[in-house]
Amino acid sequence: MTSTTMTTTKTGPTDSFERRWAFASDWLAVSDAPALVMRCDAFAALKVIPDASIDLIVTDPPYASLEKYRDSKARIKKYERDKRRGKLKGTRIPRLRDWFPIMPNERFPELLAEFYRVMADDSHCYIFCDDETSDVIKAACDAMVRERGEKNAFKWWKRIVWDKGHGGQGYHYRNAHEFVVFLEKGKRNLNSKAHSSVIPCKRVSKGSLGGRDPGPTEKPVSLIATLIENSSKPSDLVLDPFCGRGATGVAALFAKRQFLGFDVQKKAVRISRERLRAVEAA
Ligand SMILES: C[S@@+](CC[C@H](N)C(=O)[O-])C[C@H]1O[C@@H](n2cnc3c(N)ncnc32)[C@H](O)[C@@H]1O
Repeated sequence: MTSTTMTTTKTGPTDSFERRWAFASDWLAVSDAPALVMRCDAFAALKVIPDASIDLIVTDPPYASLEKYRDSKARIKKYERDKRRGKLKGTRIPRLRDWFPIMPNERFPELLAEFYRVMADDSHCYIFCDDETSDVIKAACDAMVRERGEKNAFKWWKRIVWDKGHGGQGYHYRNAHEFVVFLEKGKRNLNSKAHSSVIPCKRVSKGSLGGRDPGPTEKPVSLIATLIENSSKPSDLVLDPFCGRGATGVAALFAKRQFLGFDVQKKAVRISRERLRAVEAA
């Protein structure tokens, strides 16, 4: 497998990307190493992944409607100032919600086209999202079918509901769920038909992580494990191009799959790698 020339993008660190990608593509081709996480822009990285080389995608993209939860610039500034002055010590440290660059909804058609291309024939794709974004993904899938015909486009199956048990705080009809859009390329049966379209699973909390801060959008490993176990087999390669703190990777390794993850954020990549190393060492 050869490395491919990359174009640089605004959002991704591209320093020595070609060198790192040469390594990654060799890894994809021959390695039995279980996991690789790269700090890079997902769109740039997807472009150089060979056709039909990924067995399953499970991802939680930085979709635009997350913007509404982001803290104001003034609050972020105050937080940074207080942090510098050592005022954030103690038990009541406020959670700062300025977390990562957002992907505009207009990029979903491009993203789905790349997902479709890199996915193996007869494979599945799961995308975490909210109500609003699931409509955007549905519209992008419908457009794909119109442009390419049903045989060469994703089959939109459904919105799976992740039932978190209880809602967030302080607003009307508080959300106690998220969606996971379930897409299919070709035809692949689930390994188990035991699950309904509503999957109960507690959200990730500091307590459940032995005190590590889960960040604002970390997903539960056990929920992702259900998806991986249903839609792949041991040794398959699972991709999460927006891997955050590595929940998909951890679930993949527990299930004896290989994992390839990307993220633009240094901290997310560091935490992912630490978590994956811990699973490998266990
Ligand atoms: C919703 S979070 C994913 C959280 C993840 N599910 C977890 O359990 O930690 C989206 C992630 O996408 C990353 N991101 C944003 N833009 C990106 C891009 N262009 N390429 C790769 N990663 C990106 C962010 O840094 C963030 O970690």
